Amino acid sequence: MDSLSRGLKWLVLTSVLVVSAAGCIGVSPEQQLANELGPDPGPYSRGPLHRAGFPCTNCHGDLWWQDHPTFELAGTVYKTPTDDSGSHGSQVIIEDAKGQKITAQTNAVGNFFLLQNGMSVGRGGGGGGNDGSTVITAGLTFPLRVSVKTGAVEQKMRGLIWRERSCANCHNKQLGAASNGRVFAAENSP
Ligand code: HEC
Ligand code: HEC
Repeated sequence: MDSLSRGLKWLVLTSVLVVSAAGCIGVSPEQQLANELGPDPGPYSRGPLHRAGFPCTNCHGDLWWQDHPTFELAGTVYKTPTDDSGSHGSQVIIEDAKGQKITAQTNAVGNFFLLQNGMSVGRGGGGGGNDGSTVITAGLTFPLRVSVKTGAVEQKMRGLIWRERSCANCHNKQLGAASNGRVFAAENSP
């Protein structure tokens, strides 16, 4: 056996060992996905204001292992596509494939999230009595049509959302192939 294939064999063996060791300490694929997002750089404790701009449902999804509500849809609206200031009190207007219309309100950091009927959040509000949550009675039927409204300015997303539940998995500060910039709706009036 030449040294290259011996090296490869060793590599395969150790990878198998690493994978099974991770299995032993019980890191589920969902928890792995959550861990990959890294720590929250923001100042808020876990609740409606934390992790603005992150893909909320990577953690708060159906497969989440912790005891708290899962979100049907969630995201963060900004004042402009490239800055870090969240837009408070913007409306996110959603229409699903069955014609169900929902209007969500963003909280103090620009976050919004839809909760299934019967779910509620246990933690403090996001200011002005609006914590960014909206309870919906029926689950969403994809695809979805969405737009964002700040004051009188409405920005429509032309395409449909086919399955993704976090705006941030497509909308990110870094513009590029994997991102369309932040979700925003800028008010033109001074
Ligand atoms: C990396 C994983 C992760 C991401 C991403 C994440 N969260 Fe959380 N969130 C948590 C954890 C962990 C808790 C605390 C859960 C607990 O105490 O049971 C939490 C708690 C919350 C709570 C309080 C729930 C309750 O009932 O107490 C809200 C509301 C919340 N997050 C909203 C959001 C929003 C909105 C986003 C996206 C902008 C988001 N989270 C992104 C992990 C995450
Ligand atoms: C699967 C990827 C994807 C997801 C998920 C997604 N978007 Fe989009 N979004 C796009 C793309 C691509 C565009 C640009 C083309 C268009 O308008 O369809 C866009 C454009 C937009 C625009 C118009 C921006 C402008 O410059 O006029 C708004 C507003 C918007 N999205 C809001 C949202 C909101 C709110 C969510 C979450 C509820 C969301 N998007 C989720 C891909 C996505």
